[in-house]
Amino acid sequence: MENPSVLRRELVDIHGVPLFWCIVEEWSQVESFEARPDDILIATYPKSGTTWTCEILDLIYNNGDLEKCKRDAIYNRVPFMELIIPGQVNGIKQLENIQSPRLIKTHLPVQLLPSSFWKNDCKMIYVARNAKDVAVSYYYFYQMAKLHPEPGTWEEFLDKFMTGKVCFGSWYEHVKNWWEKRKDYRILYLFYEDMKEDPKSNIHKLLEFLDKDLPEETVAKILYHTSFNVMKQNPSANYTTMEKDAMDHSVSPFMRKGISGDWKNKFTVSQYEAFEEDYKKKMKGSTLQFRSEI
Ligand SMILES: *[C@@H]1O[C@H](CO)[C@@H](O)[C@H](O)[C@H]1NC(C)=O
Repeated sequence: MENPSVLRRELVDIHGVPLFWCIVEEWSQVESFEARPDDILIATYPKSGTTWTCEILDLIYNNGDLEKCKRDAIYNRVPFMELIIPGQVNGIKQLENIQSPRLIKTHLPVQLLPSSFWKNDCKMIYVARNAKDVAVSYYYFYQMAKLHPEPGTWEEFLDKFMTGKVCFGSWYEHVKNWWEKRKDYRILYLFYEDMKEDPKSNIHKLLEFLDKDLPEETVAKILYHTSFNVMKQNPSANYTTMEKDAMDHSVSPFMRKGISGDWKNKFTVSQYEAFEEDYKKKMKGSTLQFRSEI
C-alpha cells in the first residue's frame, strides 16, 4: 500500500458498531448508497463463506461461463459496498459504475444497512456460520489482513470476539438480527455448514430464490469450480491479487481450510466451556440453530 498509515489502526464505533476507521470517516457515502430494485445483496458476518457465495452467484449470473468469471478479481466482480480506503478502494463508487443486475457484498449488521435496500425491497442472501469456527477464522484473518488492528493472542482475540469488539461488531447480534429481518423482507438465509454438507442443494435454493433455471451440467460445473480446492487455486478468487502489504498470505492464506469444526484445534477445554456458557445467554430467545461440525 502507498500509505502504510492506513494499516493496523484501531477500529472506530459507528452507531455502536466497531468498523475500520476509514469507513467511519466516509460513513455518509455509505448511508446514502442508492440500491436498485434488481440488486442482489450478499450479506454475511466476516469469515462465513462470503467469497464462496459471491463466486457461486457470479457464476449463476454468467450462466456458468468460467472465462467470464475470470474477467476480474472477485472483489471487483462483486464489490464490497462499504469498503472505502482513501486513495485505494471505494465500494460505493465501484458499484455506481457497474451495470445491473449488480451483485453486492456487505458485512454490515442489519441496522446499518443503507435504507435504500429496504425501500427497493431488494433480494438478499445471508450466509451464517457457527460462531466458534468464525472466531478462529477471524483470528487468522486479522493476522493476515492488516487493515485490522493487531489481534493479540488467541485468548485476547476470543475475548474481543465474545464482547463484540471486533470489526463489524457482535457476531451474535449480526446473525440474530438478520434472522429476524427475514420475516419481513426477501432474504434467503443460508448456513455455511449446509453449503459444505450439500453444496448442490444450496445452489438449487439460490436458483429458486433468484428465479433462475440452469441445466444440470451447468450446475455441476459451478459446483466443481466453487469447491474449496479449485477456488483456492483460482487467482481471481483467492485474493492473491491484493497487495502483499494489505494481505499477507504467507502469514495465513485467505483461503485457509474451508472446513467445519476446525475450532476444535484452537479452543482449549476451558475456553470451550466459557464460550458455550456465554453463548447460551447471548442466543437465548432466538430460534436460530447452528451446527458446529458436520
Ligand atoms: C492463488 O492462485 C494462484 C494461481 O493458481 C496460486 O499459484 C496460488 O498458490 C494461490 N494462492 C493461495 C494463497 O492459495
